[in-house]
Amino acid sequence: MTRQKGLAALSILLAALAWPQFTSAQVSFASNEVREMTYADDVAPIFRENCVTCHHPGTAAPMALETYEQVRRYATRIRQAVETRAMPPGWYLDRTVGIQEFKNDPTLTDEQIATITAWVDQGTPMGDPSKIQPPQAWRPAHEYWQLEEELNYGPPDLIVTAPTYLVPAASGDQWFEPDVALSSILDRPLIGERWIRAIETRPGDQQSAYVFHHVNVGLRPAATENTSGGDGGLTDAAVGKRFDLYPNDSGKLIRADDMMTFSLHLYPIGEEVEAKVQLGIWLWPEGETPKYATRDETSFNSGESASIGLPRYTDMLIPPNGYQELRAYFVLRENARIHSIRGHMHLRGGYQMMEAIYPDGRREVINKINWNHLWHTTHVYEDSAQPLLPKGTVIVSSSLMDNTSDNPSNPDVDQWVVYGRRSVSEMAHIRFGMTYIPDEDFQEMLEARERAQARPVPIASR
Ligand code: HEC
Repeated sequence: MTRQKGLAALSILLAALAWPQFTSAQVSFASNEVREMTYADDVAPIFRENCVTCHHPGTAAPMALETYEQVRRYATRIRQAVETRAMPPGWYLDRTVGIQEFKNDPTLTDEQIATITAWVDQGTPMGDPSKIQPPQAWRPAHEYWQLEEELNYGPPDLIVTAPTYLVPAASGDQWFEPDVALSSILDRPLIGERWIRAIETRPGDQQSAYVFHHVNVGLRPAATENTSGGDGGLTDAAVGKRFDLYPNDSGKLIRADDMMTFSLHLYPIGEEVEAKVQLGIWLWPEGETPKYATRDETSFNSGESASIGLPRYTDMLIPPNGYQELRAYFVLRENARIHSIRGHMHLRGGYQMMEAIYPDGRREVINKINWNHLWHTTHVYEDSAQPLLPKGTVIVSSSLMDNTSDNPSNPDVDQWVVYGRRSVSEMAHIRFGMTYIPDEDFQEMLEARERAQARPVPIASR
């Protein structure tokens, strides 16, 4: 780092540290007293922006938080949920290490958290009721496409209706994993080779919305050679996450003779439900090819045996009341631009970490995910923060399995645990959404990054 850059970085750091004292209207450090917060002025807008999309009737969230009465009733639990950053849920990236700039980070700012806790501590005053906006009108999730209505993508070019599955009223978790010929589940014929630019998943009806834990969808070309690369991952959806947008210079090839693979994880809700799911697919215009074929999600197993293609992690054996760490190394043969990261573990999940060892020898943590089995989030990097990994970079994928009572999800600390699909068995892989970039373009990306000074970049391999 040059001296000038160093000083600039230092002054930004100092400004950041000083910021609460200079600009926070809430907290007066002189008197150590907090200004009075009201629901109408301070709290309702935070809930409207960050909570009610899930906390309204007809969703998987346990209560609505749309009115003063509703929010006040749960005030103590809300205070705790926001202070511990349990809510909004789904974001368990370690905040102390790795990249922090993401497009879909739902977490509250420190200031928003301070506002809510102060309001609860002050006895939840309402303020001027005329300033409170009435609750929004919600449409059930199965009635609209978010990309169409909120992101102006227009109606989807293709709609896929997955095979249905009858979830019994009472039993353990259910999995449904059909492979289906794409042409048999499309709402209209797909002609020739087309490129996907975005994809969204929605429940088929209201009841279905209650039984889905998550939905993973893949595409397997009928032909053996897969010109779009990748290991077949297409999209995944879970509570709070509906769509995937590929980087806007990239797409994924789709052809009518492809197979579509589904992995639906469902849970019973006390009544029988025929679980239905639909996918909306937005294509690049006919005849247009994106600059890059994205591989999108590519899996990096933390077990060596899985990494070299053995069907099971023969090296996964977690002792009762103990830990196991698995770590595997992958050498990139191409330059890669990483646009997202997603972990995958089960109930013994502790944490997962991705590191890069650059060709110049520098080692850097890309991200660490503190695992929570309830939420399977794809973390999408800001464009300016997407890791750029030159060919020759070694990717280190590590996962720590925690089979002790310190792990709140642990169902039984006295079991030996091995690899398996059920949540009581374990898995450990991390997916990067990635696109291979040719040398010349990659060099340009590195230089553009350097110019933007967003973050230090590796010296490309020579
Ligand atoms: C992505 C959807 C989603 C969003 C956004 C969300 N929640 Fe939740 N919330 C849930 C679900 C699902 C549960 C029940 C399961 C759980 O506790 O994880 C829940 C549970 C809760 C609970 C009960 C926890 C307890 O004590 O058992 C509180 C309180 C809560 N949410 C508050 C909030 C607040 C405040 C916000 C906004 C700052 C928020 N939530 C945003 C989905 C969401």
